[in-house]
Amino acid sequence: MNLNSIPVDHLTEEQAKVELERLALQIAHHDRLYYLEDQPEISDAEYDDLRLRNDAIEKRFPQFIREDSPSQRVGAPLSGPFRKVKHRQPMLSLDNGFEDQDIYDFYDRIRRFLGLSKDETIELVAEPKIDGLSATLEYRNDQFVLGATRGDGTEGEDITANLKTIHDIPQSIHSHHDFPEVTEVRGEVYMRHEDFMALNKEREAQNLPLFANPRNAGAGSVRQLDPKVTASRPLKFFAYSCDDYAPFHVKTHWEFLERLKSTGFVVNPMAKLCRNVDELLSFYRELEEKRTSLEYDIDGIVYKVNRIDWQERMGYSSRAPRWALAHKFPAQKAQTRLNDIIIQVGRTGALTPVAVLEPVTVGGVVVSRATLHNEDEIARKDVRVGDTVVIQRAGDVIPQVLNPVLDKRPKDSKSFEFPHTCPICDSHAVRLPGEAARKCTGGLICSAQVALRLRHLVSRDAFDIDGFGSKHVEAFFKEGLIKSPQDIFTLEERDRQSLTPLRNREGWGSLSAENLFKAINSRRNIELHRFIYSLGIPQVGQATAKLLARQYTSFETWKQAMIAAKDESSEAYQDLLSIDGIGPSVAEDLVAFFDEPHNLHVLDELQKHLAILDEKPINVGSSPIANKTIVFTGTLEHMTRPEAKVRAETLGAKVSSSVSVKTDYVVIGADAGSKAKKARELGVTILTEQEWMNLMKNPPL
Ligand code: IVH
Repeated sequence: MNLNSIPVDHLTEEQAKVELERLALQIAHHDRLYYLEDQPEISDAEYDDLRLRNDAIEKRFPQFIREDSPSQRVGAPLSGPFRKVKHRQPMLSLDNGFEDQDIYDFYDRIRRFLGLSKDETIELVAEPKIDGLSATLEYRNDQFVLGATRGDGTEGEDITANLKTIHDIPQSIHSHHDFPEVTEVRGEVYMRHEDFMALNKEREAQNLPLFANPRNAGAGSVRQLDPKVTASRPLKFFAYSCDDYAPFHVKTHWEFLERLKSTGFVVNPMAKLCRNVDELLSFYRELEEKRTSLEYDIDGIVYKVNRIDWQERMGYSSRAPRWALAHKFPAQKAQTRLNDIIIQVGRTGALTPVAVLEPVTVGGVVVSRATLHNEDEIARKDVRVGDTVVIQRAGDVIPQVLNPVLDKRPKDSKSFEFPHTCPICDSHAVRLPGEAARKCTGGLICSAQVALRLRHLVSRDAFDIDGFGSKHVEAFFKEGLIKSPQDIFTLEERDRQSLTPLRNREGWGSLSAENLFKAINSRRNIELHRFIYSLGIPQVGQATAKLLARQYTSFETWKQAMIAAKDESSEAYQDLLSIDGIGPSVAEDLVAFFDEPHNLHVLDELQKHLAILDEKPINVGSSPIANKTIVFTGTLEHMTRPEAKVRAETLGAKVSSSVSVKTDYVVIGADAGSKAKKARELGVTILTEQEWMNLMKNPPL
């Protein structure tokens, strides 16, 4: 029998000790995944279960409370007192490719985007994708002055003192080359296998929790409060990019890497210049084979367009450069027993089946839960409790169950019956036509859904209310203090009149209550993109929220547009779809959200307590097309359509695919058809390609 399934009341002293140790390790592990890597492996609810169990055991056996117990940490675990720093340029992520075909497609995309002929060579640099954590290093006048984590990509944490302890990072630049006066060199902090194992051995001897893998060990090490501790950890650094190539005066990425090397940075020695897809693929296979014998973890190969002028022309999508691709190595697999299938209820009411597994190590990480996606998946794979199953873990995604091993199936096994009621609130769970998920219809009466929504609302990337962790949200929700988002903002007012104010409650005092109110009040001004994200609309993550905020700039405009977009023949709907990155499915979720009277009510209520700040238009100087809406039509001669779009957007314009009264310019290429006609009818300014190019080249200053 597994210790973790014994109810707390039945644990013996011996068992309690073992359980507390396991929980401390596991919670520390998940804290790291959540707070440092932004890659949680388990749901918030599962995480809370671990914390609750830990608390309950400690309550029964206070004599066994460990020094490293999660309950002994104050505030959010590990979210230490590091100063936040805004990156001068965002630290983006990379698009992924998995199959050979993805790489051919990537190559074709580059060719098409740049309008290159079939026989023009496109050079790419292939670099191992280091599985560590990215950091940016600011140099001023040849001195290393500021080092930061990636954070959310826009803002990271100042870990200068810790990075200064890493030998691979030059403290000052001594070179005859011109090194930019101000620059940020970017790269990956990592730990070698050998060093990782030695570190864990040492920790084991000292009875300290072990790190799950080298990346976690690296992440834990750079966020130490005491740089001396970091110094004692064997960290390494590979440099591979910068915030801006311009001051380096180089023409290619390869030249840039050479420059880094000659100025004292460590560049991965395996980086290779390739001239076609076949060279990329053979390099990939070569490294895939070498992978297990390398000194450190890599999870794929990064391909980057070598010519910097081409990189500039291709630019960035909202989350990643168009000129680069991460070719991931295939996932790692393992077999284990499926002990149970449990059903979780998500923020949107979707019931998700989760496989409870006999813990097994996959690619260096212990996996005990995996997703089974949905009802159909279970039926299609005919996965049964008791089966031995093949599970897979691919780098940064939640582990998944691939298939049962039929040879090993117990004779008495039964097919899994998916419940038709919600395991939390017992409401009917229904499946709408065309939807993969069965959803709880309990809505606001389903505590799982409401609590998760509230939790999302106060979370770091949304309202970011300090000290308002999931525990408080849950407790307040259970007591009926906070039932709906707006209640958060009336909490203080109600508390002042309450007979049982917060400060008198168990676990609270005047100071902690005041601090919470202060934290809430400090978030009454909120940026539009954060606000949009905080609503937890399905499929509207941070990137999409930013796209929406940029497009509509004010809350009121956005709201009216989303309401109007219900009518699919409306301009509002067309406008929404014309945003690069928003397709019909996301549009449908947005429309559905605004179609729900309850949601509109919540928005109205929230607005009473908040100032939702207009999104600042991006600083595009005196660009003549800033904030103008442009439509391109017909075949352009001097550049491809995607490139034209990117250029216009870089100068602050919005590019739309359909002409309306809101269009400012229609740029017509050869054979322009109905859109040109419509522009004439509506009296929209029409530009020839040449006129448009002139505008780009010589913006009136
Ligand atoms: S280039 C704008 N090169 O992969 C492009 N990234 O999935 C910035 N990474 O956050 C990334 N090795 O932490 C680049 N040789 C390499 C890399 C690399 C590892 C990481 C990096 C980034 C993540 C994106």
